[in-house]
Order: sequence, then C-alpha cells, then structure tokens
Amino acid sequence: MFMLNGIYIHIPFCLNKCNYCDFLSFKSTIDDREKYVDALIKEINMYPHFSLDTVYFGGGTPSLLTPEQVSRILSNLNIVENAEITLEVNPKTVNLEKFKEFRRAGINRVSIGIQSFDTDNLKTLGRMHSSAEGEEAFFFAREAGFENISLDLMFSLPNQTLDNLKLDLNKLFSLRPEHFSIYSLIWEEGTEFFTKLEKGEYKETDNDLEASMYELIIDEAEKQGYIQYEISNFCLPEKRALHNTKYWKNEEYLGIGLGASGYYNGIRYKNDLTFSEYYGKISSGIKPILEEEFVSPDEKEVYEYILGLRVIPDGISPRGKYIALCETLVKKGFLIKTDTNNYILSKKGVLMANDVFSEFI
Ligand SMILES: C[S@@+](CC[C@H](N)C(=O)[O-])C[C@H]1O[C@@H](n2cnc3c(N)ncnc32)[C@H](O)[C@@H]1O
Ligand code: SF4
Repeated sequence: MFMLNGIYIHIPFCLNKCNYCDFLSFKSTIDDREKYVDALIKEINMYPHFSLDTVYFGGGTPSLLTPEQVSRILSNLNIVENAEITLEVNPKTVNLEKFKEFRRAGINRVSIGIQSFDTDNLKTLGRMHSSAEGEEAFFFAREAGFENISLDLMFSLPNQTLDNLKLDLNKLFSLRPEHFSIYSLIWEEGTEFFTKLEKGEYKETDNDLEASMYELIIDEAEKQGYIQYEISNFCLPEKRALHNTKYWKNEEYLGIGLGASGYYNGIRYKNDLTFSEYYGKISSGIKPILEEEFVSPDEKEVYEYILGLRVIPDGISPRGKYIALCETLVKKGFLIKTDTNNYILSKKGVLMANDVFSEFI
C-alpha cells in the first residue's frame, strides 16, 4: 500500500566548502537564504499535505537558516504529534540562544557535524570551528534542552593513526550523545582532497589500517553500550534515527529543495541542481524535478535487500531466488539466519558489507 510520512528538506548553503565534501552547497547572503525559503515553501505546497512523522533538514548547513525561517517552513507541513524533527548543525553557526530558538521553532533532534575533535585533523579537513567549539556546540544543545543529539564524525583521514582515532572516540564517548554516525572518508572527485590525492600530496589509508579502525569503532561502541544499528550509525537503546531508517527500509519520502532526492509514488526522483533551473520552475508552478526513474518491482526488491541488510539488527526476509542466495551467504559466513528466519549481516559481513551487497545485483 502507498504510504509516505517522511520529508527531507535540503539547505544548499555553507559558510565555506570543506576540503573533502562534495555535497551540493554554496556560499550565500541573507537575501539568498530568504529567497530560497520562499521557494521551498512553494515547492512543499505542490505536493499533497501528507501526515509526517519525520522531518529532516539536511545540507549543506541548515543551521545557517534563522529559527524563524525554520518555523515558517514547519508551519507549512502537516506534522503529527511526537514526530522526529531533525536539523543538521555546523558548530560555527550556533550558540546557546540559537539552539533554544530552534527548539522553540519545533526542532527536537540535532545532528552536529563534529568530524573530529583533533585540532590538526580539523585544519586538514578545512573546518572553520575548533575542537573546543565542536564540544561547546554539544553542550549548548544539551543546555537548550535537546534530549536527542547525534554527532557526525569521520575516520580514515589523511595520515590518521589508530591512536589518533582512539582520542576522538574517547572524547565522543565522554559526551555520550544519544546517537552518532562515523563515516570512513570518501575521496570525492572535484574536492580539494581529491586534487591532493592526484598530486600525490595525500595517499589513501591502507586497507588493513582502515579495517582496524572500523573494528575499533565497533568494539568500543559496544563496550560503551551503543548499538550498531547500521553500517555507519550507532545509538543508545531506542534512539535510532527514525528518518534515516526510512531510507534503509526502502520507504517512500518527499525530497524538497535544490538537488534533493525523493521517492514518491513508485518513482525515485532528483531535483534540479542549479538555482536558475530550480527558481525558474518554482516560479512557473512546476515541480523542480531534473530526473525521474520508475522503480520496477524487481529493482524494488533488490533495493529492499541491499538497504535492509544495512539495518544490522533487523536484516531482511528474502523471497524466491534470494532465499538460496542468502543461504549461500550464510555458508560463507557473511550472513546469520535469526530465530525469526530473517537474515542479518554477521560480524564478517559487516566488515565486508559492500561485497555482500554486490551479490544481490
Ligand atoms: C552534509 S554534512 C552535514 C553536517 C554539516 N554540514 C557540517 O558539516 O557541519 C553530513 C555529513 O556527511 C559526512 N561527509 C561529508 N563528506 C564526506 C566524505 N567525503 N566522506 C565521508 N563522509 C563525509 C560528514 O560527516 C558530514 O557531517
Ligand atoms: S561537510 Fe558540511 S559544512 Fe562542510 S562543506 Fe559539506 S555540508 Fe558544508
């Protein structure tokens, strides 16, 4: 049955471009942001007003918006009681008062981009905040009353050692956020990092070291009472990211804003990537969609398995030929069959997740 109850809203503005990042974001003025918020509201109103139980402001840097702008966007949505409403935050854009105002505007979960607590790493990454400012942002969010805080970190950074990662983990666990994500650095084409990689100024982390780092993260998180409920996401009990979990459960959601992706009525779509196309369509009353792809039943099934396996404790319940494939992967030690006849990634499967996923394609 068709069901949609989540919305992603993309805010394509950042103070500055970080050296590793290829997310769609630009520098902006106050006027740029005001114009964009007006357009977002028009786009929202081009869709039916679904009852939403998750709202996610992602970026770019959504915390560059004013709390009043966030509140205005939210007032155009039909949000059910106790919905999860998340805002991504860059530490350089907030203070205690702004966090309080975001709460009053309706935000009840923040995801703070920390990346690392190490001063040298932050410099290498091109982050504009210090380690202390990252930590301070966490404390401000707590003091403002946020009881659901996620921290975003990365590992496998240029020249990073296992000991350096340990320091980041120690600091992370001392703060005890409800949730954290930690992604291994991806060398994205077109970034400063990629240029330096090509010039030979940086080199990619050795595979064995990267695997040791990932294992360290998993082991330490477990010791600290965190559940690894997704390949790169960890939470305290009952604190999964509900919005992101919809992606992994292959559920439909609206994607609003420049370059946003969505999945609506059986169609995966991507919005326009330039402001001129985006504003042009919005002012003509047309949805700013760049490309659409109808997802066939077969593709939907494959998505269901590949995405579903990411949710480690839940896994998948395969049908037809995929049962035999899962049984083979159990024999090879990549999957485990649970008491409820679901298949979940084993520890070895988690470490080699991409190889496991490719078996389904
Ligand atoms: C769109 S950012 C949102 C956070 C906010 N803009 C900030 O950085 O403060 C989402 C997260 O993606 C991760 N990320 C971005 N580029 C990445 C890359 N090249 N490799 C791995 N993770 C990356 C970072 O951890 C980042 O916090
Ligand atoms: S990591 Fe965050 S702050 Fe840095 S450029 Fe990407 S979106 Fe912007």
